[in-house]
Parts: sequence; structure tokens; C-alpha cells
Amino acid sequence: MKNLLNIITIILCVLLSWEYTDGVENRASGEISFHRIQISSLFPSPSSSCVLSPRASNTKSSLHVMHRHGPCSSLSSEKATTSPDHDEILRLDQARVKSIHWKLSKKLTARDRLSQSQSTVLQARSGITLGSGSYIVTVGIGTPKHDLSLLFDTGSDLTWTQCQPCGKNGTSCYPQEEPIFNSSSSSSYSNVPCSSPLCDSLPSQGVYRNCSGSNCFYVAGYVDGSSTSGFLAKEKFTLTNTDVFDKLNFGCGVNNQGFKGIAGLLGLGPGTLSFPSQTAMTYNNIFSYCLPSSKEYTGHLTFGSGGISNSVKYTPSFTLLVNSGGSFYSLDIVGISVANKDLNIPLGVFSNATAIIDSGTTITRLPPVAYAALRTAFKEKMSNYKTTLGPPPFDTCYDFTGLRTMSIPKISFSFDGGTVVDLDSKGVMYMYGMSKGCLGFAGNTYNNNVAVFGSLQQKTLEVVYDVPSGRLGFAPNGCR
Ligand SMILES: *[C@@H]1O[C@H](CO)[C@@H](O)[C@H](O)[C@H]1NC(C)=O
Ligand SMILES: *[C@@H]1O[C@H](CO)[C@@H](O)[C@H](O)[C@H]1NC(C)=O
Ligand SMILES: *[C@@H]1O[C@H](CO)[C@@H](O)[C@H](O)[C@H]1NC(C)=O
Ligand SMILES: *[C@@H]1O[C@H](CO)[C@@H](O)[C@H](O)[C@H]1NC(C)=O
Repeated sequence: MKNLLNIITIILCVLLSWEYTDGVENRASGEISFHRIQISSLFPSPSSSCVLSPRASNTKSSLHVMHRHGPCSSLSSEKATTSPDHDEILRLDQARVKSIHWKLSKKLTARDRLSQSQSTVLQARSGITLGSGSYIVTVGIGTPKHDLSLLFDTGSDLTWTQCQPCGKNGTSCYPQEEPIFNSSSSSSYSNVPCSSPLCDSLPSQGVYRNCSGSNCFYVAGYVDGSSTSGFLAKEKFTLTNTDVFDKLNFGCGVNNQGFKGIAGLLGLGPGTLSFPSQTAMTYNNIFSYCLPSSKEYTGHLTFGSGGISNSVKYTPSFTLLVNSGGSFYSLDIVGISVANKDLNIPLGVFSNATAIIDSGTTITRLPPVAYAALRTAFKEKMSNYKTTLGPPPFDTCYDFTGLRTMSIPKISFSFDGGTVVDLDSKGVMYMYGMSKGCLGFAGNTYNNNVAVFGSLQQKTLEVVYDVPSGRLGFAPNGCR
């Protein structure tokens, strides 16, 4: 009898999971409160092939966003890196968050200052770490056009690429897969002189300048010790067949260290040197992107307001933090819910800490009190699963070995203005190892540390940066 019951239960479970692969309904409200996920879908096979998603509809100003290590990557040598080193990703992520805290904190303890000053010299001038930044786009630079894969970063302004001559006069370039841009063979290239106001403005944008010659020489250091320096220059940028910009300022980096594989960086920050700011005449300083749920899919990076979905919900508390340390977009988190139940987080926990949205930080960082509340509610809903130890900074990890599906509670963020954003089912957990995953959030050390809404939580959301209207928007299903 007991066996028969077990068999019936198993059949029922199989039938249920067949029917609800996307979510489990809360019968009372009819709202989805859990996501049921096929575990295999969270671990793309190393041999999976690229599934190109359509770019944003109704707009030509859109680029494919690729995971640099996925099968869609334009960098074939990077593609080969099929098994990511999670410890390294998480270490770089933590370094980026540390540098954000350093740059944006007003109340530094003596100990913080000490540990910072013991690191590299460059960081004193400027800098943020690039983190584990994984998303790239391909942009055409120069005449004739030279297609280059650039990491995109909402946390810095300067767009740069490695430039020939590398290795002359003691300069060096790190290995990159695509041929290095040669400014001497581009007819549209010109250096920016030291006498230009733009060169003068570099230090206020976190970039050191060196005017010992007549050309404006920039030095941008990142806290992790990587750096780029070279000529501040003007060049033609080709995004798509129709979207060509004649004289954008960028860094022609003849001396670059610490990066790998990629040709440079596309700066999407809020400062005047950034790509959206420089193309504001065309795109009105509006851009949007969608980060794909998995490496084998592409997302999009779209400039201008064409093609933005009608279902985008905006939060009005969207401010630009531009200082000599770095440029960030700030937003106001006001609450979090787990399985449709609001966490009881005291008023003031969020308002005591600035929050930013960042494409270059993977794991969302929360004020310690908010993280503790999230963890407690999440653990309660996950009590059926076997817990395990995970890599730092995680403390809430599960072993799903032997299971075909898992049910995880839906997590939603409330932003100022009553905007509620449901995270995608792939934006809740950080999966690593064989069938293991951790709650993909971490708590900050101090209550007033900057909170960061990271890229894991942004997956598949269409995120709209509408600078002129001072609003940030989110919509579900921006990409696969
Ligand atoms: C390298 O040095 C040579 C001679 O000293 C000079 O002509 C040339 O402009 C230098 N190149 C760069 C990139 O500084
Ligand atoms: C760069 O282009 C110039 C002009 O075409 C050429 O003389 C030079 O050899 C090129 N440098 C490299 C490193 O390819
Ligand atoms: C400043 O630029 C000159 C070449 O113009 C270079 O020799 C020098 O090393 C640079 N200084 C720094 C601190 O980068
Ligand atoms: C917010 O900061 C103030 C001043 O530091 C402090 O008194 C208050 O307890 C903090 N509120 C919360 C909820 O942490």
C-alpha cells in the first residue's frame, strides 16, 4: 500500500513538473510564488551551440551582447574557456565591490585607508576594478572599420582599445585575439592636444592625464592593478550600418596591463566622456540592455528609445554619481519580497545606504540587515533541499545532485515610485560545481556601504537607462 502511494506520488510529481516548468502558482492569489526549474538548464553543456536571439525589435541601433566565454562569443580563444573558475570570478567580483565602496564611501575607517594604500600606486589616482565582467559587444573603430570586442561597463566612462605601436619605448600590450588597432593606418584618427578643455577635464572623470608632450596622454588605473594608458584621441565609431559617429573621444592605449583576450572597454557610465553622453545628440542619452540567462544565448545593447518595450516600469529615483573616483548610476531600493511576501526590513536600512546598478558586478550586495532577512526567508522556503558549503561570499548553498528539477521562491525588488521588479528564475541563484547553487546575494560589511544591484539579478530583464527623464526602467523577458 505504501509503495503504491509512493508510486502515485512520483507519477503526480512528474506530471506536475511536466505542466509547470516555469513556475508554481500560489493557489490563493493566482500569482507565481515559486519557480520550478529544470536543473540541467542551469548547467549548459560545454558543447552547446550558440542560439542567436533577435536584437531589440524596431530598432537598428542595437548590438548583440555576448558572454565572452560562451559559444556565441566573437573571441574563439575565449570560447574555449568552457569551465569558468568560480573562485576567480568571485574574487574579482569582491574586488570590484571593494573598490566601489572605497570610491563612494565618505566615512572610511583608518584600517580601510591603510589596506588600500598598501596596494598599487595607480589606485590612488583613480580606479575601479573591472571585476569579472563577462559581457562583450562588437564595435567598429576607424577607417577602414576594424571590428573589436569590447567589454561593456556601466561603471566607467572612458572607452578604450589597445593601439599599435605596442611594445615600443617600453610600452606593452596584453595578448588579445583580434588584431590590435593601428591608429597610423586609420584615416579618421586624430590625437587630442594637451591644450584642449577635454584633456583638462580628465582628472574630474577619474582619469589621470600626463601632458609632458603636446598630445593628451591618459592613464586609467583599475584597482586590481590593471591599467591602460595612451593617447586621448578622436576616431570614427561604427555601431551598425546606419549608426556611424565621426569623432568620438576614446583612449588609444599603447601601454596596457592586466586584462586578457578582450580588445578594450566600452564605457557606459554617466560621465561626459562616456559613449552614451558623447552620442546624446543621436540617442538622447538613453540606452537599454538585456543580459542573457545563459552563455549560449545572446542579449542586446540598444541605444536610443526606439524599440523599448511598453511593459517597462520606471523608478524615478535615478541619479548620476560622477566623481573623480568613478561614475555610477544610483537607484533607490525600498524593499524585497520572497515568494510574494514582503520582508520585514526596517525603514532606514535602505535609505542609510546608497545603492547603484552595475553591469560589472555579478552578485548583488545588500545592507547586512536586508541580506539577513532575505537569507532567513529564502532558507525557510528551501528547507526541502540538502544544504552544502559554497565558495565565499556565499553562505546559503544547496546540493541538487540527483534531482531533475528544483523549486525556488520568487524574489522581487521594490524600487522607489512603487516599481516592483520580479527577478528571473535564473537571477536568484549562483550555480557552480556539479548541481550546486547558492543564494546569489551577499551582505555588505557595514550598514552604510553602497548596495549594488548586480548583473546576476539583472539577467533577462530589459534595463532602460533614461538619463534625460531621470528614470531607470525594468521589463521582464528582454531576452532569453
Ligand atoms: C618612441 O621613441 C621614438 C624615439 O625616441 C619616438 O620617435 C617615438 O615617437 C616614440 N613612440 C611613442 C609611441 O612614444
Ligand atoms: C601600422 O600602420 C602603419 C601605416 O600603415 C605601418 O607603417 C605600420 O607598420 C603598422 N604597424 C603595425 C604594428 O602593424
Ligand atoms: C608621461 O608621458 C611621457 C611621454 O609623453 C612618458 O614618458 C611618461 O612616462 C609619462 N608619465 C607617466 C606617469 O605615465
Ligand atoms: C541610519 O543611520 C542613522 C545614523 O547613522 C542611525 O542612527 C540609524 O540607526 C540607522 N538606521 C538603520 C535602520 O540602520
